[in-house]
Amino acid sequence: MAVSVNLKLNGAACRFEVEPDERLVETVREKAGLTGTKLGCGVGECGACSVLLDGKLVCACLVLAAQADGCEVFTVEGLAPGGRLSDLQRAFVEEGAVQCGYCTPGMLMAAEALLRRHKRPTGEQIRQGLAGNLCRCTGYTKIVAAVRKVAKRRAARGGRR
Ligand code: FES
Ligand code: FES
Repeated sequence: MAVSVNLKLNGAACRFEVEPDERLVETVREKAGLTGTKLGCGVGECGACSVLLDGKLVCACLVLAAQADGCEVFTVEGLAPGGRLSDLQRAFVEEGAVQCGYCTPGMLMAAEALLRRHKRPTGEQIRQGLAGNLCRCTGYTKIVAAVRKVAKRRAARGGRR
């Protein structure tokens, strides 16, 4: 039997009817139409489905939609309201940190979570922060460089994005 779930999705109050075994990644992609969040492994190994749930980085393939009832969910679409890329997204483009792009939304969410925790992360902290996200294409170096670049830019602007 379907249950009602209320989410604050990228700042907007939303209500969905979900099956008890429906995963948050499915609700976000199929019911909310936010297909930036990817479904990769489906078992918590690749990070492609990463979103922020009440500010905490989670794999949306491991969270039931019903568990997220009453929570704030932030997806990659929330980084670019109105289609305007965030400074983090621009840094990924500038550094060539995007190739096939499948991992990119999850990487961006992991990087966003990291930069909320650490304003000036060390290389080690960046690698740790992205450790749950797999990329088959880039070798990670350019992704780390993009995160470092945006942290440096924000610091130069007094923390502003
Ligand atoms: S799809 Fe969720 S971790 Fe891979
Ligand atoms: S850019 Fe292809 S998997 Fe990361």
